[in-house]
Parts: sequence; C-alpha cells; structure tokens
Amino acid sequence: MARPFETGLDSLFTNVQLATMAGGYGELRDGAIGVSDGRIAWIGLGAAAPPAAVVHDGRGCWLTPGLIDCHTHIVHAGNRSDEFEARLNGATYEDIARAGGGIMSTVRATRAASDEDLLRQSLPRIASLLAEGVTTLEIKSGYGLTIKAEAKMLRVARRVGQVLPVNVVTTFLGAHALPPEFAGRADDYVAHICEHMLPQLAAAGLVDAVDAFCERIGFSNAQTGRVFEAARAHGLPVKLHAEQLSDQGGAELVARFKGLSADHLEHLGEDGIAAMAAAGTVAVLLPGAYYFLRDTTPPPIAALRAAGVPMAVATDCNPGTSPMTSLLLAMNMACTLWRLTPQEALAGATIHAARALGRAADIGSLEVGKRADFALWDIARPADLSYAIGLNPCRGVVSAGVLRDPVVSLPG
Ligand code: NIG
Ligand code: FE
Repeated sequence: MARPFETGLDSLFTNVQLATMAGGYGELRDGAIGVSDGRIAWIGLGAAAPPAAVVHDGRGCWLTPGLIDCHTHIVHAGNRSDEFEARLNGATYEDIARAGGGIMSTVRATRAASDEDLLRQSLPRIASLLAEGVTTLEIKSGYGLTIKAEAKMLRVARRVGQVLPVNVVTTFLGAHALPPEFAGRADDYVAHICEHMLPQLAAAGLVDAVDAFCERIGFSNAQTGRVFEAARAHGLPVKLHAEQLSDQGGAELVARFKGLSADHLEHLGEDGIAAMAAAGTVAVLLPGAYYFLRDTTPPPIAALRAAGVPMAVATDCNPGTSPMTSLLLAMNMACTLWRLTPQEALAGATIHAARALGRAADIGSLEVGKRADFALWDIARPADLSYAIGLNPCRGVVSAGVLRDPVVSLPG
C-alpha cells in the first residue's frame, strides 16, 4: 500500500526535549524526531521538521532512547523469599548455595515448569520493566543446566519478544552452577557444555551470546576459558559474571576473548581494569545484587571511569540476589551507592548497555538509522530519572516506531 506522503516520514514526534545519548550525552531542546520503516529517519528542531503521515505532540516531554536492561535472569520459576528470610536470620548467600539451595533451588523449580508456566510466571516481571520505558531486554538461561531445560528457558525468552513489544537478546549461561547430575565432576560438566549443550542450542538459533559464573561457588578461570573457546568456535560473543564475590581473574579472561562485558566487578583489581580498557569490554554494574546481599565492597567506579571503561547499569533481575524489576531503581542505586552521575546512569541504561549487548550500531542512542526505540518522560531534566525513588514518569514508549502505553496488557 502506498504511503500517504511518499517523500515524508511515517511519523513525527514533535514538541519534545531530546536526550540523544549520541557520543555519550547530548541534548536538543524543542526538538522533533521522525520515523520511517521503524527506524529513526530525521532528528532536528521541531520548527524545521519535514512532513509526516502521523504527528504526535510530545507536550514538552523529555524523549530518551528506549532503556536497555542488559543483564537479567528474568525468566525463571518460583521465588526465594525463604532464603531472604534465612539470610536475615544469619545465613550467608554462599552458605545457602553450599547447602543445596540458592541457584539450585531455582533450577529445581525451573526444570519442573512447562514452557507456558515459565512464560506466565515471567511476564509480570517483564511488564514491570516495560512500564519504565525498557525496549530491549537481555535474558539469560542458567536455571535449567540440561540441554532440554536450557532450551526451554531460551525458547521462552525468545517467546517473550513475540508476545510483548520488546527486543529480546538471549544469553546461554549453562556454566552458572554445577547440576547435581555432575556432582564432583565439574570438568565433565564443562566438557558437556562445550561439546553438546552449546552446539545444540546454538544450532537451534537460541543463543546470541555466552556467559559463565566465574567464582568459588561457580566455575574456575580455566573452566570458564574452555567455555569461551567453545563460544568462539561457534562465532558467539562472550560476557562474564566476574569478580562478584572474589577476584578470580575473570575480567582479564573475558577481555582476552574481546568479550562484550564483565559484570558485577565488586572485587575487580587494577589488572582487570587495564585489560577491560584495552579490549573495549563494558563494565556492567549491578547495584541491585550489591544492595540485596548487603555487600560492602563497591566496584572500583573511580578507577573504571579514569581508565575510560564504559559503564552500563542493569537490574540483574533474579530470584536469589536481585529480585528487582525496576531499571530506574538500578540507576538510582548506582548513583546513591556508588556515586555514578545521573548522566552516567542514563548512559549506562542506554548507549553503554547497547554496547554490552554488541548492539550499539542499532540501538542505545537517538541517531539517524538506528531502531526507533524511545521513551517519553514527564520530567523537568534527565537527572530526574535517577533521582526519584519509586515514581514512574514514563508517559509513552515507542518500540520499532510503534507508540504504546507504558503499561502493557499481558496475554492470556
Ligand atoms: O547474577 N551470580 C550468579 N548469578 C546470579 C544469581 C543467581 C541466583 O542466586 O539465582 C547473579 O547474581
Ligand atoms: Fe547475573
């Protein structure tokens, strides 16, 4: 069907204040942004805007790139409020994991759930993120730990992107914990990941990137390296849960593989920072886990900043260490707990998050040619997004050029 204005835009959002985040941060007052074929086709002053088939009045709202949550375990079954209580009664996260709870308790619940059940339990959490302007979401596996159950998690993750207006990026996290079937045989499980799980899941088109948990209660540096070799053999980018509870040299390892990101990083040392800076590996900061575990060692923010390592901010939404479904809250925590500036936090949830997913050419900033993913905010200044706690000022979301209400209705 011919478009009404062959030479014009499909749609124009005018009367908006743009925080473009192009090259880090940029503002354009009294701006407008035009969309054609789901892509940004024009950006400039409202007064100079070309004709468009549909014009939306932004009523003076701020318009930012759609937010990107670049690290989540949001597809899982059950919850672990019992462990939250146990920790408040004196147990530690590592005690609970060693006693067969922790990640393994979510593995049991996730294995037992059907595809439909897993989707149904996950959608309300995802809707909560979408209400705050999230347009791209990374979802990890890692609570299945068998080919069948990991495939189920990744299938459900892909399904999320079909039933809700969000762009989903999947990450295979088979090396999250040692499943009981391989008790005492961690090297055999790593071989199983490399020789069977990853090849089959990648062949099924379920994997966009590969992650691991490099930690005392996870996998060693050498075992993680083997998983990364396998990822490389399949042409898949890598990222890593690194230096969360102790320094395992994970950041240096993932940088050696030119990894997209090293995530958590509370116990990151100088060598890791230098390696990340040299490799262009993004530091993904997860203040929700730090807060929820009452950690007291902050990641070395000032040193990362001084080294020029891009810093992303994400929810790490998971039932054990960060049952958080608000990226705005993660931004606030990154500022209050770790002294990020509000501009850094916004870059962390947009352009640097895009880079942590290997998608910076396509999303994360308002630039001609990128996907038309925006959020409209009723705020006086962009810093308000990191400042308010518990207020959601999102007034509209545009996903691939299509305007929607922040609140999405769930299927079924
Ligand atoms: O990112 N650290 C490992 N993985 C998750 C926690 C998983 C869980 O406890 O269920 C994290 O913190
Ligand atoms: Fe995580």
